[in-house]
Amino acid sequence: MSDSKILKIENLSAIYLVREGSIKASVDINLEMEEGSITAIVGESASGKSTILEAMTRSLPPNGRIIGGNVFYRRDGNYVNIMEIEEEELRKLRWSEIALVPQAVQNALNPTMRVFDHFMDTVVDHGVEWSTKKVWDRASKLLDMMGLDGNRVLRSFPHELSGGMRQRTLIALSLLFDPKVLILDEPTSALDVLTQARLIRVLDEVHRELKITMIFVTHDLPVAAELSDYMGVIYGGNLMERGKTEDIIGDPKHPYTQALVASLMSVVGDVEKIKPIPGEPPSLLNPPNGCVFHPRCPFRMDKCSVETPPLFKLSENHYVRCWLYEK
Ligand SMILES: Nc1ncnc2c1ncn2[C@@H]1O[C@H](COP(=O)(O)OP(=O)(O)O)[C@@H](O)[C@H]1O
Ligand code: SF4
Ligand SMILES: [Mg+2]
Repeated sequence: MSDSKILKIENLSAIYLVREGSIKASVDINLEMEEGSITAIVGESASGKSTILEAMTRSLPPNGRIIGGNVFYRRDGNYVNIMEIEEEELRKLRWSEIALVPQAVQNALNPTMRVFDHFMDTVVDHGVEWSTKKVWDRASKLLDMMGLDGNRVLRSFPHELSGGMRQRTLIALSLLFDPKVLILDEPTSALDVLTQARLIRVLDEVHRELKITMIFVTHDLPVAAELSDYMGVIYGGNLMERGKTEDIIGDPKHPYTQALVASLMSVVGDVEKIKPIPGEPPSLLNPPNGCVFHPRCPFRMDKCSVETPPLFKLSENHYVRCWLYEK
């Protein structure tokens, strides 16, 4: 395995059990993260983005099941398989090495507790023996880095903070134990445009300061383009294309990515609001046979509705799941 990768997701598949059967939310996902890089996972609503984050950290809801795959995390030069470690080790790893900030967490703070108590509780919960002063200083420094007045915010109750401030507070909290990987699910979605822009600057700053590996999910292609080094494009639970952001935006290969990028060029970029391609997203309960995009694809061939294309490698970092690129 190549050493510059801090995370390697291999053939990760996850489903949700429902009365009608199973929702194929994550199908054979392959992704790799360079240490210190920023990866954006983009795709329309309900395409399976959150499922990837939850599956890779083994934090799916109770009806979620991982049905295959491995997630290798590099620690001290060796890879550990997150899918195989014990529950206790996983719990430690989740905060101290890989931190996940879930979607719509702005209300995750307890309204009856001052912000500082959230930091203190987290330290106590994890059995970490830090003095109150040490927790205060560290929390305050992290909040300052998030562009907030740390000492003031720590004394505040959640309702005294704006939505954007609460979001940044939660990111600071997730950085408490200095994780190597920060995973953010739709960090900008619930925010107004100005607050979004500020958060993007802050995340960029955090990344530069801490040299942390960042993975974030968004349905907003311009946000992804601005912040990320690498991009993965999800459609119908499948990873359709991945590569360097400049290649994905500048020279998209998959017909779905091409449609997405074309719609980005036409001023609006919100994947949720636009219908770049005629037709509807696929049912993940009964997905189409073959390529999951074939019912909407202008380039479909006979085999597309029969055989699922593998992820073809175009160059060192560029992969695409489409029969057009079969050699
Ligand atoms: N707990 C669940 N039970 C059943 N279906 C779910 C559950 N969570 C998500 N899904 C379904 O799985 C698919 C992928 O969801 P998700 O990963 O949340 O997509 P995204 O984050 O891209 O919006 C969607 O069809 C969604 O409705
Ligand atoms: S595999 Fe076929 S249907 Fe799927 S995106 Fe490629 S050309 Fe279109
Ligand atoms: Mg989601």
